[in-house]
Amino acid sequence: MTLKVTSDLRLIERGDEPLSNPSDNTTFARVLEARFGRRDLLKGGLGAAVVGLFGGVGLAGCNSSGSGSGKGAGDGSAAPGQLLGFEPVPVSELDEIVVPEGYSFQVIGRWGDPIIGGAPAFALDNTGADQAGQIGSHHDGMHFFPIEGEDPDEGSSEDGLLVLNHEYVESRYMHAAAVGQELNAWAVTFKEDLSRDADEVLKEMNAHGVSIYRINKSGDNTWSIQYDSRNRRITGLTHMEIQGPVRGSDLVRTRYSPQGHATRGTLNNCAHGVTPWNTYLAAEENWAGYFCNADEVLPREHSRYGVIGGSFSRYNWHRADSGADAYVRFDASSTGADATEDYRNEPNCFGWMVEIDPFDPDSTPQKRTAMGRFAHEGVVFQPAEDGRPVVCYSGDDARFEYIYKFVSAQAFFRNTAGGHLLDTGTLYVASFNEDGTGDWLPLVYGQNGLTEANGFSSQADVLVNTRLAADFVGATKMDRPEWGAVDPNTRQVYFTLTNNTRRDEDDTDAVNPRGPNYHGHIIRWREQGDDPAALAFTWDLFAIAGDSSGPDTLTGGRDGAGNALTEDNKFSSPDGLWIDRDSRIWIQMDMSESVMNVNPDYAMMGNNSMLAADPISGEIRRFLTGPLGQEITGVITTPDQRTMFINVQHPGATTSAEDFAAGQLTGTWPDHNGGYARSATVVIWKDDGGKVGT
Ligand code: FEO
Ligand code: CA
Ligand code: CA
Repeated sequence: MTLKVTSDLRLIERGDEPLSNPSDNTTFARVLEARFGRRDLLKGGLGAAVVGLFGGVGLAGCNSSGSGSGKGAGDGSAAPGQLLGFEPVPVSELDEIVVPEGYSFQVIGRWGDPIIGGAPAFALDNTGADQAGQIGSHHDGMHFFPIEGEDPDEGSSEDGLLVLNHEYVESRYMHAAAVGQELNAWAVTFKEDLSRDADEVLKEMNAHGVSIYRINKSGDNTWSIQYDSRNRRITGLTHMEIQGPVRGSDLVRTRYSPQGHATRGTLNNCAHGVTPWNTYLAAEENWAGYFCNADEVLPREHSRYGVIGGSFSRYNWHRADSGADAYVRFDASSTGADATEDYRNEPNCFGWMVEIDPFDPDSTPQKRTAMGRFAHEGVVFQPAEDGRPVVCYSGDDARFEYIYKFVSAQAFFRNTAGGHLLDTGTLYVASFNEDGTGDWLPLVYGQNGLTEANGFSSQADVLVNTRLAADFVGATKMDRPEWGAVDPNTRQVYFTLTNNTRRDEDDTDAVNPRGPNYHGHIIRWREQGDDPAALAFTWDLFAIAGDSSGPDTLTGGRDGAGNALTEDNKFSSPDGLWIDRDSRIWIQMDMSESVMNVNPDYAMMGNNSMLAADPISGEIRRFLTGPLGQEITGVITTPDQRTMFINVQHPGATTSAEDFAAGQLTGTWPDHNGGYARSATVVIWKDDGGKVGT
């Protein structure tokens, strides 16, 4: 029996981020319109307006503030305008990876491949326990940690720990019992009594979280998985500590941790972060839909985040037929005498950044609450400098949500740096002004009206209700902030705003004159005085994504005319973003599988792909196209930049429910052997041994 999708569930049916910002804060589009005037933003006026905007800021590879980490600039071999040396690949609708001429690739680390000794090889009838020793599903953010374990960006380029997130699962592809049923990518199966098979639930939870495994390179450039004592799976069940101001708060007391010190698992880990002290941060993005709450009125810390009212949720893990405590906690209804007797606060234990030490397999993951609670896409750090605070940025990926910055209270010193730096500090939210400046508004209890009189009782309350606090101080509503990236040579910060089809026509004219923002854009800013801890910044638009046939696109070029997108670089829905040490910007597309290849507004883009951009010349070229049904997400190179790792997530997701029932699969990448498609990592290298992208 398959789930009948109710109106409550329709919002998350295709994984859409729930729309839950009722505030009347200004949207980014209104800011743009007010700043440029609508006429200037239309047609050719947009490029000119943007060119003028960043005039005095300087885009050349200057590094006026220096980088204490010694990162960036690489060997300095790339002159301005010469960062991209490959021939762009065409738009593709193949069920295969395509890379430029002179490049090769290899698929490793598929969902279900064993990484822990004793775990079986992948098979459809693997159990929930089997999955705990295998790579999770739906690969996302990722980092290659050189095996020396000292510095996240320095060390071996042939041996290291690959650490990656697993964002979600497609239940239909996971269970033998699903074969032959009419199931779409978001459906789960129930028993007659509307309970779920407990081992199916366990398998789905164990396919979430993070995988850590050792890989090394052979003489022929190919890589292989090594069994190593540090190989580890972190899942939806792993014990985790709650740290920072929310630790011990009434808002996180549960039956599992009556003192509010701990919880189990991390979920919907989208992008990631890498700290200057060589640890990994997994973001918790669309976790709210994993919970339901049948109480008559949902508390604001549930409703403002999209926790589902009623007794059904996205995966319905709380309906596992075993009734085990680890599963029933996903029902956040108030059923006990107080919060320590039920899981009314369990959703408050999610929405954080989770720190993991990949080199210590016995370490307990730490939820760093000072960095705020929202749909964290990921987090990106400024290069660390001794004696200065640690500064990082994180976007809240939902329509009309915000961009945040965290500044540590304590200064960074390389010899003593650690996760404690993320437990005390100030969380700010971005306000974009009409004149090209911006302000960081502190979310501090007692400041800016975040007081008892306005419903905030403590810093823990402010952090659990980060979105409400940001509403209150007047943050700027954005078009779904996804990944950020910091240029290590300039300290400029880039953010993708993937799209926003829910924007009113009146709002969308300013930033994208085609009505709803179908294709998204990339913004960037520079902190005042190049001081990452500054309270003000200067911003502009780097690229406006879209179809090459329209004039209302922008490649990031600063030469005025001729900077509209072309067949070689048109793109949509920018999501993944990373800047390598030469300042090459890697842009990854995530058009929804509900529109890719079929919706006329998106079909011209083909399959989701990855592009590379030169921030100085503004040139963008398509570097890689992915197989059917997937998104490209996650990107990192080895320190020598001669091996790149990317992830292919949810291949085959466009298979319809009817076709799934009939066994007619749309997309069977990577194996094409009659089985289902599987998320996997792709290793890419240049045949002549050069740096990837050159
Ligand atoms: Fe998980 Fe916002 O992409
Ligand atoms: Ca993403
Ligand atoms: Ca996305």
